[in-house]
Amino acid sequence: MNSVNPIKRGYLYLEAWFNYSFGPEWNPLYHLGTLTFFFFWIVLVSGIYLFIFFDTSLGGAYASVEYLTHEQWYLGGVMRSLHRYASDAAIMTILLHMFREFALDRYRGFRWYSWVTGVPTLWFVITLGITGYWLVWDELGLYIAVLSSLLMDALPIVSGSMASNFLEGQLTDRFFTLMGFLHLLGQPVLLVFVLWIHVKRLSHVEISAPRGLAIGSFLALLALSLASPAVSHAPADLRKVPAELNLDWFYLNIYPLLDTLTAGQTWMITIGITFFLMLMPWLPRKKTGEAAKVHLDECNGCGQCAVDCPFDAIRVQARTDNARWEFEVAVDDGLCAACGICVGSCHSSNPFRRSNKSLETGIDMPQFPIDEVRTRTGEALAELQGDNTVLVIGCEHALNVEQFKTQNVAVLNLICTGMMPPTLVEYALKQGADGVFVTGCRKGDCYYRYGNVWMDKRFEGLRKPVLRERADRSRIRVYRAAETDQKKLLKELADFQRHLADTSPEKTGANRA
Ligand code: HEM
Ligand code: SF4
Ligand code: SF4
Repeated sequence: MNSVNPIKRGYLYLEAWFNYSFGPEWNPLYHLGTLTFFFFWIVLVSGIYLFIFFDTSLGGAYASVEYLTHEQWYLGGVMRSLHRYASDAAIMTILLHMFREFALDRYRGFRWYSWVTGVPTLWFVITLGITGYWLVWDELGLYIAVLSSLLMDALPIVSGSMASNFLEGQLTDRFFTLMGFLHLLGQPVLLVFVLWIHVKRLSHVEISAPRGLAIGSFLALLALSLASPAVSHAPADLRKVPAELNLDWFYLNIYPLLDTLTAGQTWMITIGITFFLMLMPWLPRKKTGEAAKVHLDECNGCGQCAVDCPFDAIRVQARTDNARWEFEVAVDDGLCAACGICVGSCHSSNPFRRSNKSLETGIDMPQFPIDEVRTRTGEALAELQGDNTVLVIGCEHALNVEQFKTQNVAVLNLICTGMMPPTLVEYALKQGADGVFVTGCRKGDCYYRYGNVWMDKRFEGLRKPVLRERADRSRIRVYRAAETDQKKLLKELADFQRHLADTSPEKTGANRA
């Protein structure tokens, strides 16, 4: 508990508070990626509406935006405000998404790819916003145009006279058309492409925000749009220096730097920050465990592990041995996060099998094979003494369960609770535990994305391999807990033991085995 770093601890408390207010299903901090997609949808739909009325010429752009804002305030104006505020909200959710991955240490090791491909998506979104402000062609648009040209002039590939050409009025028309093309087509298409790359190594990627969260967010943006509609500055005028500009700090934060720094220095800072962000997964590096190994002797090619793998690391292919099955699976070591979830998916990971021999399964973790899981379960159970004995099963990334060990509480730490075959719970009950208490990452959040989701579904009988009907549910409790939830877990565990005492055979006369 003391080893939790303060950033992570603070962040976990914040998420717990959001869980308390919204529930895990609607906790916005668990849905930052999907919320960003939702805001993009609002930006797209409102953008299409604005485009219908937008005059793409330099002379007519400002007036067309003014028409939408004032004459057609009830629809065009609202659409404009939604377009702006949803764009701001997207930057907020992207920054929070980024911070979350950092705070919870989900950016290093096997996650380097998602992190590194995330950085350019941030810049793509920011530049998309910049060209959007440019297109209004008011004083702010002109400010962006001139300062962007200054920045471009500082690049060796652009031969140094863009800004002066701008100020002399020679470049404005051509550039305006280019910006229109970029904002309306080029950048959105590129953004879709980089986002596809960003999530390419993940499976079961959700891009739809939960309905309640989406409706709530939309209503909040609509209320903001009505209360404080987006408006333009005065029209762009090359002869006038604007007295005051209202900057959108989410998108235009780079420009004020040019008040004190040269364009070259501003580039250096921007490029420096980008490189630093991209190098973060190796500062310091985090080792990923050994990849899962397939044992064809125990695999019938059912493909459940491939369906369950959250990192798309397993492919189903034609059988390469002479077995009677049609398919087999193969693991791509480079993609494997070593989460062990596939072990929990495999029907062969059944501790009741060949109990006097080494337990082999179709797919296993070299660092913690299922045979060792069974052995450690047996050893832990053998140490139990007294009444209301419980086996607590936890994972490496949530609350460390070692601290709960007592005479009548044994513990087993897995890589992820998704690694646990449901039969292991039955096995522990059969081997003498009065109850099994499963914990691991909080509901709605799993270090390995889907470990606790699949586990819950297996327990509910909704996903293979299922926890059998005959398993006595009254002796099984699932309570998810992060590293900061120690007190809550202790309370729940005590409650479970009380429940076991109340339903014990001595009290009820029933037989537990
Ligand atoms: C347009 C902006 C972005 C969108 C829409 C977006 C969306 C997503 C989505 C949908 C996922 C999959 C989450 C899941 O299903 O578990 C994801 C994962 C991830 N994103 Fe982003 N992202 C964006 C930007 C970024 C940025 C700027 C970073 C950091 C530099 C970042 C870092 C990550 C990481 C590390 C993961 C991996 C999560 C995992 O493996 O569990 N993303 N992102
Ligand atoms: S250990 Fe995890 S990432 Fe690797 S193959 Fe199994 S489920 Fe996929
Ligand atoms: S779940 Fe087991 S049996 Fe099915 S394909 Fe994967 S390794 Fe083979």
